[in-house]
Amino acid sequence: MCGIVGYQGRNEAFSILIDALKKLEYRGYDSAGIAIWHDKSIEIIRRKGKVDDLRKAASENKIKGTMGLAHTRWATHGIPSERNAHPHKAGDVVVVHNGIIENYMEIKEQLKKQGHRFTSDTDTEVIPHLINSYIEKGEGFIDAVRLAIRGLEGSYALGIMRQKERIMIAVKKESPLIVGVVDGESVFASDAPAIIDMTNKLIFLEDNDIVVFKDGGFRIMDIDGNEINRKVHTVNWTGAMAQKGGFKHFMLKEIYEQPRAITETLIGRVREEKAEVDLDELKLPDMKDIKKIWMVACGTSYHACLIGKYIFESSLRIPVETDIASEFRYREPIMGRHDMLILVSQSGETADTIAAMKEGKKNGVYTLSICNVLGSTLSRESDGVIFTHAGPEIGVASTKAFTTQITVLFMLMLHMGRFLGVLDKKTVREKIVELKKIPHKIQSILNDAQKIEEMARRFITYKNFLYLGRGINYPSMMEGALKLKEISYIHAEAYAAGEMKHGPIALIDENLPVFVLSPHDRTYQKTCSNIEEVFARRGKVMLITDIYDHEMSGRADSILVIPSTIYELQPLLSAVPLQLLAYNIANLLGTDVDQPRNLAKSVTVE
Ligand code: G6P
Repeated sequence: MCGIVGYQGRNEAFSILIDALKKLEYRGYDSAGIAIWHDKSIEIIRRKGKVDDLRKAASENKIKGTMGLAHTRWATHGIPSERNAHPHKAGDVVVVHNGIIENYMEIKEQLKKQGHRFTSDTDTEVIPHLINSYIEKGEGFIDAVRLAIRGLEGSYALGIMRQKERIMIAVKKESPLIVGVVDGESVFASDAPAIIDMTNKLIFLEDNDIVVFKDGGFRIMDIDGNEINRKVHTVNWTGAMAQKGGFKHFMLKEIYEQPRAITETLIGRVREEKAEVDLDELKLPDMKDIKKIWMVACGTSYHACLIGKYIFESSLRIPVETDIASEFRYREPIMGRHDMLILVSQSGETADTIAAMKEGKKNGVYTLSICNVLGSTLSRESDGVIFTHAGPEIGVASTKAFTTQITVLFMLMLHMGRFLGVLDKKTVREKIVELKKIPHKIQSILNDAQKIEEMARRFITYKNFLYLGRGINYPSMMEGALKLKEISYIHAEAYAAGEMKHGPIALIDENLPVFVLSPHDRTYQKTCSNIEEVFARRGKVMLITDIYDHEMSGRADSILVIPSTIYELQPLLSAVPLQLLAYNIANLLGTDVDQPRNLAKSVTVE
């Protein structure tokens, strides 16, 4: 989820590329780099930190030339540092890359045996080496690229140059890449904002497209080298609209990114054939006699922990205690040597969560963080870390970070289930099969988003909402209510459906909409009884379930049917309509969705 730009033309590439990179800064990044071709040599400059630091370093070096590649890196493999920053070079081949190469370890081992030497910790570095190995075997540049990408598994958008020829190649699979159509010049980028000021004529490349830029023009071919045509779209986006990929808000864009974000979380980690979850980065200590797991976090990440408790306890039968990070250490938790403490944090910088980790360390337990931001304090200081790979999340209200956290917790449960010998291969395989279906099922919910927008319209005049769920659906509703509070400023309270009769039932009348989440699991009938209690008091019910219920239709104000899945994965599907409901209500009310009042994305004070 980094940023890529490429330019070939008559003008000095350096300032064009740097200006384009500046337009991608909003996405968040930790290092940047540039490669400029000039008269059969390529100069590369990379810097940890900001594009301005790169500009300064490069202009001091007076880097000149009319063709080049540039990159902003958001670390996924290897900490943010100059040596891990792109472009990466091998022989005379230079590459910038977005995405994750799933089989990079295998490729790296093979190439090492052939004498290739690596200088970074990235997955990307195998790509120039692989291309270069084909060139050394006598292949031409374009054929070497075609052969190399056949060997890559995972996702990639690539910009490639070599010293010997004034040719630039762009390739894409599962990561976006756009070509800008400009007379006599060639530009391409991972994101429209980078090039929208140069042209509004864009080609959105498709998977396995290879674009060869030469003499200010370009041609597109497929992986077998056959020429293909792609439609040129004329867009009327402003720079700000382009940053949001045409979506009105970052939050909405991030909701829609969830199928891809979860796919990236799974890449290289789940192996259905072997019934294995490979969490390479995790070095579990000898935990065969683990007694208890603690899960601690703040805000949305805390809700992921609550869901994690159901996932772990129902499958592994190990007790899990959850806590809010700001409460955890002040209550002097009683931890044992055989406990494990899991800290969940999108940013990895939340002060209370870091303090909770320190409390765990003080008690001598193994600390494991689940973070989105590589190089963050929590990820560096905990004993183990698993990254969510959700990509930068810009909207303050967390969406894709939440669903990828749940995905990681589920994978961790499967991994530990095998490690501890609690789950057999058949069970793990069945659960992996279900997990892999999730991105597609989320996509089908997103395809029906219009229905949720219509529902939202009916609820914008209400001042209070009650969210009900049982079992694993209860924390899902806590997250749903939090989303509504955060961005629409409407009060919403989540309750365990069975507990409603012990208090909130006093509030119910025709002015209190009640959202109920109840897929057809073993508590469905019980929840239906709670819905009857609401009907009896003239309450308005909006039901989210997985099988249409004729009994309820005509009585409930509205019913939304979402796909079915296994119990532990249900929160990944229910999160999406709840996010969309909150988003649409807030949008209709005209609040500042991406930067709600009083809230911060990363809370670094206690
Ligand atoms: C802030 C954000 C929330 C987030 C929470 C925890 O309150 O507004 O969206 O869930 O911090 O952040 P973390 O980065 O630790 O997940």
